[in-house]
Amino acid sequence: MLVLGIESSCDETGVALISSETGLIADALHTQIDMHRAYGGVVPELASRDHIRRAVALVDDVMAKAGRSRSELDAVAVTEGPGLAGALLVGNAVAHAIGWALEIPVLGVHHLEGHLLAAKLSDPAPEFPFLALLVSGGHTQILKVERFGSYKLLGETLDDAAGEAFDKTAQLLGLPYPGGPHVSALAEKGASGAIELARPMIHSPNLMMSFSGLKTSVLTAVQSAENPEDETWRANLARGFVDAVTDVLAAKLIRAMKETKLERVVVAGGVSANKQLRARLTDAVRRRRGEIFFPPMRLCTDNGAMIAAAGLARLESMSEAEREALKRESAFR
Ligand code: KG4
Ligand code: ZN
Repeated sequence: MLVLGIESSCDETGVALISSETGLIADALHTQIDMHRAYGGVVPELASRDHIRRAVALVDDVMAKAGRSRSELDAVAVTEGPGLAGALLVGNAVAHAIGWALEIPVLGVHHLEGHLLAAKLSDPAPEFPFLALLVSGGHTQILKVERFGSYKLLGETLDDAAGEAFDKTAQLLGLPYPGGPHVSALAEKGASGAIELARPMIHSPNLMMSFSGLKTSVLTAVQSAENPEDETWRANLARGFVDAVTDVLAAKLIRAMKETKLERVVVAGGVSANKQLRARLTDAVRRRRGEIFFPPMRLCTDNGAMIAAAGLARLESMSEAEREALKRESAFR
C-alpha cells in the first residue's frame, strides 16, 4: 500500500510518501519560520496563505522524488487537527481534492497521533505496547499505548506545555522564535546548578505537570538580575531552565514506568529534538533497564512523514473487508 501524508497544522507544510513494503520513500518540508520570525510567533493568516502557495508543489515534488505516479496511491492521510483552522483547511482541501480525483480514501489524522507514530520511523522501531511522553509546543502528555489506536492518557500539564515554556523563556531572553533550539544552544554554554529554578509538581504523587510557574521563575530571575545582558549569566539561566524542565519530565516518566510496569518508552513531539532532554531521559530510562525510542531527529518537529505513517498504520490496522468498504465509500463519494 502507498499512502501520501500531508501536514499543514501550523507553520510547516510537510508532504511524504510511505509504503507498507519499504517504509518512507520520499518527503519534503517547507518551513515558514523565517516569515513569522519578524512577528515573534506564528501569524495564522500568513501561515494559511503560505500553505496555499506550497502544498501542491510539495506533493508534486515528493511524487517526482519517489518516481511514482499519483494513480498508484491507495490513500491520502492529512492532519485533521488540532491546529490553526485556516492552515488545516489548506492541507485538507488538497488531500480531499486528490482523494476525490483518484477515488481513494482520505484519512484524517490527529496531529499528536502523528507525532507519536513518528517514532515508528526510527530504526530500530519500538514495538507496542509502550509508554509515550509527548512534548510539543501545545501539549505535554504521558500516554499508555497498547497498540495502534489505543491511547490512554495517564497525565498531562495543567497549564503551559513544555514547548511553550521553552518559547516563553526564549522571548524573555530576547532569543528568536521558535525558542526551543536557541534556549537549548545557549544552555550548552551554561553551568548546571549556577541558577536553580522552580520544578513545579515534581513531587506530586501523580503524573500531572505544570510549567507556568517555571516561566514565572525565569521572569523573576530576569527582572532581578544585576546585568541581564551578561552572556555567562544568560547561559546559566538557560541551563537552569533546561535542567528544571528535563528533571520534571524525567521524574514523571520514571513514575509512569513504575506505575504501568512498562519498560519501553517513546518520547515524541517538537521538544523531543532537544539534546539535553534526550540525554537525560535516555540515562534515566536505561538506569531502570528500560528501552527508549525517539523519532529520527528531523521528524521530531512537524512533518508530513509522521502523518503518512499514521495513515498507513490506520490502513494496516483494518481488516481486508474494512479496507474494501472504505474504498467503495471513496468511489461513491
Ligand atoms: O511538535 P512541534 O513541532 O509543534 C507542535 O505540534 O506544537 O513542537 C514545536 C515546539 C516549539 O515549542 C519549539 O520551541 C520546540 O518544539 N522545540 C524545541 C526544540 N526544537 C523544537 N524545544 C527544545 N529544544 C529543541 N531542540
Ligand atoms: Zn506538532
